Amino acid sequence: MKIAVLPGDGIGPEVTAQSVKVLRAIASNRFELEMQEAPIGQAGVDAAGVPLPPETLKIAGQSDAILFGSVGGPTDELPDRSKRPGAGLLKLRKTLSLYANFRPAVLFPELIGASTLRPEIVEGVDMMILRELNGDLYFGEPRGVHVEDGKRIGINTMRYSEDEIARIAHVGFQTARKRRGKLCSVDKANVLETMQLWREVVMEVGREYPDVELSHLYIDAAAMMLIRNPRQFDVIVTGNVFGDILSDAAAMLTGSIGMLPSASMGEGTLGLFEPVHGSAPDIADQDIANPLASILSSAMLLRYSLNRPDEADRVERAVRSVLAAGYRTADIYQPGTRKVGTTEMGDAVVAALEHDV
Ligand code: NAD
Ligand code: IPM
Ligand code: MN
Repeated sequence: MKIAVLPGDGIGPEVTAQSVKVLRAIASNRFELEMQEAPIGQAGVDAAGVPLPPETLKIAGQSDAILFGSVGGPTDELPDRSKRPGAGLLKLRKTLSLYANFRPAVLFPELIGASTLRPEIVEGVDMMILRELNGDLYFGEPRGVHVEDGKRIGINTMRYSEDEIARIAHVGFQTARKRRGKLCSVDKANVLETMQLWREVVMEVGREYPDVELSHLYIDAAAMMLIRNPRQFDVIVTGNVFGDILSDAAAMLTGSIGMLPSASMGEGTLGLFEPVHGSAPDIADQDIANPLASILSSAMLLRYSLNRPDEADRVERAVRSVLAAGYRTADIYQPGTRKVGTTEMGDAVVAALEHDV
């Protein structure tokens, strides 16, 4: 099995290094794991002048799975969009047609007090946010900033074809079927034509899944419901922009954005696995970032791309046991627990894996 390791920028390399240790420990002498590292984001710009160097794309495309850290840095604000670190990630998702982004928000019972919300609100939270990743305002044309009558005008286009909506809707219904059988589609059909089409197509696809309970919410109400009564959600399916925002909000139900993993899939088994958080320049290079979102992304990698569900379970059990043993990075720390750094948390997960044979 070949894994492309793209650590990226900021805390990306720090948290990815912990995942790499975990994957090596899991593979050990059970299966062959070949890992090849390549630069992306600001690191790509520094190494090869572009955020997604052709060599990096090649390595990623020829691997069985991609382990990604995070991107973002000083060139974030460049007027030339194609040179910005985030553009590297967007191009990777688009070029490899990774359109289905699974962002599970699950509260570990040990972290019930770490959320900024009251324990009785977040208790039992276990939802899957399914974000469409290849369309929407992110990729629609026309786009750009131009001058009209001496004034700058900014344009982005919200665009979805019915085929793009249908394929993510199918993934949503199939995901719900394997869980609690509930799918909530989030749109803005009351205002936007694109989202009216979204709702129509989701309803059409829904006729093929009479066993799944389908509901609809507008994005504004969905954001409110996520905070008011998050337990009502099983699977949420939504577009690229709304999914980006809702998943960061959902992170706080689990205690911290440092806990939220993700998997981006296409039609085959190649997937891209990354924490939902960014490069966190405010805490980079201090060995304090939470590596568990990355480690849990590695568990998803084992499950979704390498077809190793038992090993995925083992990684998740190891995370659970270090939390039960009281290990906490600063973002999820509470009095009475043991504050550890990034590396120490990674080492604790590896040690827990070795105890659980
Ligand atoms: P961010 O997710 O990097 O950080 C938001 C806040 O969460 C910060 O206070 C940060 O310290 C904290 N945080 C994030 N990850 C953490 C972790 N693992 N442990 C503890 N605390 C953590 O979002 P931002 O500040 O809006 O963006 C910073 C840069 O990251 C920008 O350049 C942005 O474009 C980029 N970004 C990249 C990705 C990605 O690579 N997938 C995702 C989001 C943002
Ligand atoms: C994410 C990030 C990216 C996105 C950025 C860095 C391009 O916020 O993965 O959630 O907007 O998709
Ligand atoms: Mn985001």
